[in-house]
Amino acid sequence: MIKILILILTLIFTFNVHAAESNKGSMPKHEWSFNGITGTFDRAALQRGFKVYREVCAGCHSMKLLYYRDLLDIGFSEAQVKAIAAEHDVLDGPNDEGEMFERPARPADRFVNPYLNDNEARANNNGAYPPDLSVITKARRYGEDYIYNLLMGYEDAPEEVEVGDGMYYNKWMDGNQIAMPAPIYDGSVDYDDGTDNNAAQLSEDVVTFLKWSAEPELEVRKNLGIKVILFFLVLGTIVYLAKNRLWREVH
Ligand code: HEC
Repeated sequence: MIKILILILTLIFTFNVHAAESNKGSMPKHEWSFNGITGTFDRAALQRGFKVYREVCAGCHSMKLLYYRDLLDIGFSEAQVKAIAAEHDVLDGPNDEGEMFERPARPADRFVNPYLNDNEARANNNGAYPPDLSVITKARRYGEDYIYNLLMGYEDAPEEVEVGDGMYYNKWMDGNQIAMPAPIYDGSVDYDDGTDNNAAQLSEDVVTFLKWSAEPELEVRKNLGIKVILFFLVLGTIVYLAKNRLWREVH
């Protein structure tokens, strides 16, 4: 009995230590609709976030793990997805004459890359490579909180800091200098649903979209988690009642 108690206490303590470690640092936390065990993605926010990606970020960043048809999941209709895909051209072929040809993208195509290759991407961005954003919320420490703060973190450099050529001062980037010019301003993307389009809202929406693209299964996972917990609660109660009943006579 004592051994089991010690084991449980040790487990609890190690969990606490891990929790304390991951809270280290001073990355401000943002309120997200998808946090918590019942968190879900707000469909309207996802669609607005996609609009921000498409009108701003897509100029420099690819999202090559996404297919246009994935947009059906966030509430776009088939016709809308077709129209979105058809705005881009992809290289296809060879045709019967053996030649490659361009055609409008279809829902079954991957998101079209803004650059032909990595070299072109670097050449257009002062030598820096704009990373693919498909799973960026998983690829960076502090995930969505970091990316939100990064987008909102452009400021004038303090006097003692010398900012390099083609670099911008950002509070949250490693070394405080980033080759990406501030992509988001108050009102820089128009919303059709009447939502205020200040910089904080645009950043929140685009990061919500990036979180969805990295973890589209988040809602299903949380939903299943709750069901599993309920299942064990019910099962636990039944086992407990059965045990009491079986041992009733013995004492
Ligand atoms: C003009 C081109 C351009 C646009 C537009 C742009 N970015 Fe970037 N982005 C870059 C470049 C270049 C880098 C690499 C910066 C570096 O390594 O210094 C970068 C880096 C990033 C990073 C990674 C930062 C890190 O920790 O390494 C994120 C996240 C990011 N961009 C998000 C976005 C989002 C979201 C948008 C749209 C709202 C956007 N970017 C729009 C060029 C752009």
